[in-house]
Amino acid sequence: MEEFIRGLPKVELHLHVEGTLEPEMMFAIAARNGLELPFASVDEVRAAYRFTDLQSFLDIYYQGAAVLRTEQDFAELMLAYLRRVAGENVRHAEIFFDPQTHTARGVPFEVFMAGFERARAEAATLGISSLLIMCFLRHLPEDQALETLDEAEPFLDGITAVGLDSSELGNPPGRFERVFARARAGGLRAVAHAGEEGPPSYITGALDLLGAERIDHGVAAEQDDALVERLVREKVPLTMCPLSNLALRVVEDLREHNLKRLLDRGVRVTVNSDDPAYFGGYVTDNYLAIQQALDLDRADVVTLARNAIDATFLTADGKARLRDELASYAGSAVE
Ligand code: HPA
Ligand code: ZN
Repeated sequence: MEEFIRGLPKVELHLHVEGTLEPEMMFAIAARNGLELPFASVDEVRAAYRFTDLQSFLDIYYQGAAVLRTEQDFAELMLAYLRRVAGENVRHAEIFFDPQTHTARGVPFEVFMAGFERARAEAATLGISSLLIMCFLRHLPEDQALETLDEAEPFLDGITAVGLDSSELGNPPGRFERVFARARAGGLRAVAHAGEEGPPSYITGALDLLGAERIDHGVAAEQDDALVERLVREKVPLTMCPLSNLALRVVEDLREHNLKRLLDRGVRVTVNSDDPAYFGGYVTDNYLAIQQALDLDRADVVTLARNAIDATFLTADGKARLRDELASYAGSAVE
């Protein structure tokens, strides 16, 4: 099974590029930019990664991202992620970035977009395609999200969708209705984090008020049977992140995770890594951990991988190519 998962052609749909900043790179970039870190060593950084909830993680995650200043920094970050997961047989990734985390420090769109673009073009030659999803920070007011969308205007050719992330509780999706409406009117697709720490009503709100086509996390959906039935009926994908849920105590033990129960009820569940440098594993590690914890069989694993292909923002041709590759891999793999 482990070999089967490692070889599986995969797609990742829930990955924050700022969450791929490994401590070694954090130190190297900080030194290059003449910045002091509040940690003496890589080990000290890793020791600080003991989270109790989403906010305790976000505080450290925004602090880490503050070392990123130049086009080269963003290019190295993006390329390191894409290279690494290309080596894990990830064929396509739809990648979140948090522009407000950078523009607030005086780093403009020109800088990070140029870095991302350079890295994505180089990675494409390694057989991994990628799309970008611009997230709005929900702990900030909607007016700042609207300003961010304006600033993004010259770069929208390189951005496929908008998303919503950061502190969920107390920041319901309805606060971002205008910015999502404007983004969608401008041709962008929409996704939103919902039901990670927040209630099922935030998932419903993301669908009804924001036009979200996928729900990022969605763990709380299970608390509302009518919502689960709706997700099945409307084929709404959930981009679940098992090791993230464990690290942020959304679940106390992976064996309690509802991924398989939702899968068995017909929800389009997918497996992703969220912030792999902080949560102890990239997408393959997430597949391996949840397969073991929930005793998933090979058919479950193939369904998860196929759900992710179906849930991408690729064209019908792009999806068909990935489905064919998955079918031929799954068909030829020996029991
Ligand atoms: N939830 C909300 N915001 C985030 C996350 C997450 O899991 N990761 C990075 N920003
Ligand atoms: Zn996330």
